[in-house]
Amino acid sequence: MFIVLIGPPGAGKGTQCGLLVERFGIHHLSTGEILRQEVENDSEIGKVAGDYISRGKLVPDDIMVEIVAEQLSRPVFKSGCLLDGFPRTTRQAEALEAELNRRGQQLSVVIELHVPEEELLSRLSDRGRSDDAPEVVRGRLRSFQKRTDALGEFYESRGLFEKIDGLGTPDEVFQRIRAGIERRKAS
Ligand code: AP5
Ligand code: MG
Repeated sequence: MFIVLIGPPGAGKGTQCGLLVERFGIHHLSTGEILRQEVENDSEIGKVAGDYISRGKLVPDDIMVEIVAEQLSRPVFKSGCLLDGFPRTTRQAEALEAELNRRGQQLSVVIELHVPEEELLSRLSDRGRSDDAPEVVRGRLRSFQKRTDALGEFYESRGLFEKIDGLGTPDEVFQRIRAGIERRKAS
């Protein structure tokens, strides 16, 4: 199964992916984590990406599409993948669709975690990642909001979109996600 999880910063994508990995044995691909690793390694990609990340801006589509295409060619993702934070733009969504088609694969479901802004701010203020400073978080939220409607429409038109309430305990949210996956499987 190829599953996409989207949602604003602090929505719980990483947390829910952890639960999905644990309970469904599906492999996790977080573009944010890959980028942070590149920054830590001070690689060419890391040097470019670090600048965008520290300003709360999206890393350019070309870079992201190349990273994900390369990742998807790894044997571990041959029959399924849990995409966390990718795609974030319609261009990324189109590229992902083309890449999966090329491999004879397709998405099963796209889950958007919906969480009100006050809750996001409160969750991130408790976490303390280097891009969790309030002014960077504001930039990340703006980057997300600007594109999310278009992404939702893109996946709605393909009958893949499931908007899930991300409030409650991680386990409550997980049960809703599980139900959303079942709904898509049945449709
Ligand atoms: P990325 O790493 O993906 O960050 P993000 O989208 O801003 O989201 P977070 O990882 O902060 O939040 P999350 O939804 O995973 O929540 P979490 O589970 O951690 O991206 C970072 C940057 O990389 C981007 O800003 C961009 O620059 C770049 N980038 C990445 N992908 C890109 C792409 N495709 N295109 C372009 N640029 C890209 O939870 C947050 C906190 O809340 C935790 O402390 C957690 O314990 C807590 N929490 C979780 N669930 C609950 C709950 N149910 N109740 C209470 N607390 C909870
Ligand atoms: Mg995350």
